[in-house]
Amino acid sequence: MKDFLEVDDLSPDELASVLARATDRNPPRVLAGRGVALIFEKPSNRTRNATEMAVVQLGGHPISINGAEIGIGSRETVEDVARTLAGYHAVIGARVFEHATLERMAAATDVPIVNLLSDTAHPLQALADLLTLREHFGHLEGLTLAWVGDGNNVCASLVRGAALVGASVRIATPPGYELPEGALDGLARDLDLRVSHDPAEAVAGVDAVITDVWASMGQEDEATARREAFSGFTVDQHLMDGAGAGAVFLHCLPAHRGEEVTAEVLEGPASLVWAEATNRMHVARALLWQLVAGWAI
Ligand code: CP
Ligand code: NVA
Repeated sequence: MKDFLEVDDLSPDELASVLARATDRNPPRVLAGRGVALIFEKPSNRTRNATEMAVVQLGGHPISINGAEIGIGSRETVEDVARTLAGYHAVIGARVFEHATLERMAAATDVPIVNLLSDTAHPLQALADLLTLREHFGHLEGLTLAWVGDGNNVCASLVRGAALVGASVRIATPPGYELPEGALDGLARDLDLRVSHDPAEAVAGVDAVITDVWASMGQEDEATARREAFSGFTVDQHLMDGAGAGAVFLHCLPAHRGEEVTAEVLEGPASLVWAEATNRMHVARALLWQLVAGWAI
């Protein structure tokens, strides 16, 4: 694997290797004297900080770049931006509006391109979620995960990650907000997946309930319409009570308390969201380590 555009660019063995390395708090300084460019066409708290610190922990120098500042596609082409940065950096990460921007960067350069979130995928988030679940349950195979909310980028990567590790998935979205056609093409393995429009049905007996904002970055104009469409999809304590005994709650953050999740659940004993946020750094470090130093443990 050269590029990491979606979580199942990793094979099951490579994923196991990333999760194993994520627990190593003293990695070799494989980025010593080298740079990592991190481009952001959209805002970020966790991804920027987690990834910058991961680069520092590997001995490298992160440079975060506002997409508007370099004018991807306006000041110069995507390819020219990527080729230029590849001359300075060992890895290029990018958070983009259009997934195709990442594909064009990957085609234009030999350095690894890492997806820091696109319209269709958020693979580093899926890695952090899997690490968080494995830390809590001790295993991933055989878990059942319920996604309640928008069939969005975070959902797609999570489902692909679940397929990689042999977990089952239940998805409940409002009508019209399902995962897009083709979002689950080419899964790594057969997946036990049930899709409905009923949150209570989706969470029944599951090990984890997972959600995300109703309006993603770039969909701010739809926020009012989405609030109406997603009525009944708030993850509240009543919904959590219908999940399995010992079920946990995950959310990639940022969260909108009172919309997709209540404060009671977000701050409650089932919530692993702060460990999940911290794990963004641990998985970013593990992924970058493997990308620049190879896959053999
Ligand atoms: N979860 C996540 O990607 O957060 P940021 O948008 O703050 O980076
Ligand atoms: N689905 C959200 C995730 C933010 C981390 C978005 O794309 O804005």
